[in-house]
Amino acid sequence: MQKFVITGGAPLNGEVRIAGAKNAVLKMMAAAVLTDEPVTLRNVPRISDVVILRELMSDIGFEVRRSNGDALEIRALEAPWPFVPLEAAVKMRASFILLGPMLARFGRVILPNPGGDRIGRRPVDFHVEAMQRMGATIAYRNGYYFAATPRDGLRGAHVTFPRVTVMGTENVILAATLARGTTVIDNAALEPEVDDLIALLGDMGGRVARTGERRIEVEGVDRLGGAEHRVLGDRLEAETFAIAAAITRGDVTLRGVDPRHLGAFLEVAERMGVPLEADAEAGLIHVRCRDSAPLRPVDVRTDPYPGFATDFQAPLSVLLTQADGVSTIHETIFEDRLDHARELVKMGADIELLGTQRARITGPTPLHGAEVGIADLRAGATLILAGLAATGTSVVSGIEHVDRGYEQIEAKLVALGARINRIEA
Ligand code: EPZ
Repeated sequence: MQKFVITGGAPLNGEVRIAGAKNAVLKMMAAAVLTDEPVTLRNVPRISDVVILRELMSDIGFEVRRSNGDALEIRALEAPWPFVPLEAAVKMRASFILLGPMLARFGRVILPNPGGDRIGRRPVDFHVEAMQRMGATIAYRNGYYFAATPRDGLRGAHVTFPRVTVMGTENVILAATLARGTTVIDNAALEPEVDDLIALLGDMGGRVARTGERRIEVEGVDRLGGAEHRVLGDRLEAETFAIAAAITRGDVTLRGVDPRHLGAFLEVAERMGVPLEADAEAGLIHVRCRDSAPLRPVDVRTDPYPGFATDFQAPLSVLLTQADGVSTIHETIFEDRLDHARELVKMGADIELLGTQRARITGPTPLHGAEVGIADLRAGATLILAGLAATGTSVVSGIEHVDRGYEQIEAKLVALGARINRIEA
């Protein structure tokens, strides 16, 4: 097992290049299943979730290989073994994104109930019900979904999600590209990663368009072709480095991300008084906190995009421990995503939990080093941020969860002046 040892207190300064978005690239890898021609993705982050999905797709029988540094080439000729093993799925919920493309292209797949972060119950009923509306038969036995289409494949359908679901929207889009007729998705997700997936599918010959507020229409086509696509920058990695700059009173320029995708975060940062400038044309954000005034407290509620991202309330809470007054966080997407609070309290934070979805954070409280750890990607990043701000040394365990979604996080932080080491423990 590996851990990070962090000695806090060093202000971060310099430039950091933001990697391609995890929550886009995984769905784009799945999109490559829809064609027998090669799909090349560029700006692919070196994160363990990509490695897991790559191995899983190779086991099914597809060619997936890294080339030219940040590119990934995928060729899905046949699926001799349309089966996703449990070991892979427990590591990554996104494995379930193969349901739609496998059904659309090969007519069958066996997938386990997926795993992922420990952030509460995460059912897949919306995905399953949508595929059933499109004509698939899906049986659940012994932890596995056995899914198949009729002989003439999936048919277009009208799907209205009971609540906004990112991967549910993406799974239906992927399935519908090769279905007979038109599919209408209502209450669809608006995340920029969904739009980037729609752009890739367009390049592959798919007919997918946003046609109304939270409505997407997909006209099925007979076949899709190969394409090359550059994955958009990771807004969550960008937000993490913006907080790292602010919490250490540093001066950091983030490159390779579109600030328009961080609207809700930038608005909260502005309300708190974090000095930053964004340039959408240049794809950069400059966080300048060297001599900034004390931070103001805020009340934040998570919501589907364009609201404040659930993935980002935990990292923000570290900054709120340094604001002057009482802040609140209301997590509305997941039932149980405030576990990091317990670890932050060990480091000196004053956080009161009101149930499992609300937290009250009183600041400013100096943070001090401690031994902390948590089995979740964004909460792991949160503890790293706290370690950077704390006096003394912190030891953060559970970093395999951080490696799932952050490319070489410690190398990027060290280049900005942080004191962080990865150790074998
Ligand atoms: C995506 O998960 C992201 N993962 C998550 O990012 C992110 O937290 C989440 O969207 C919300 O923005 C990927 O894109 C791989 P949902 P997803 O379906 O699509 C409920 C990170 O840190 N729901 O939008 O799986 C669900 O329980 C990760 O990068 C059902 O009830 O989330 C939740 O309450 C972690 N039934 C809500 O909908 C379903 O069938 C939204 O979840 C599906 C979802």
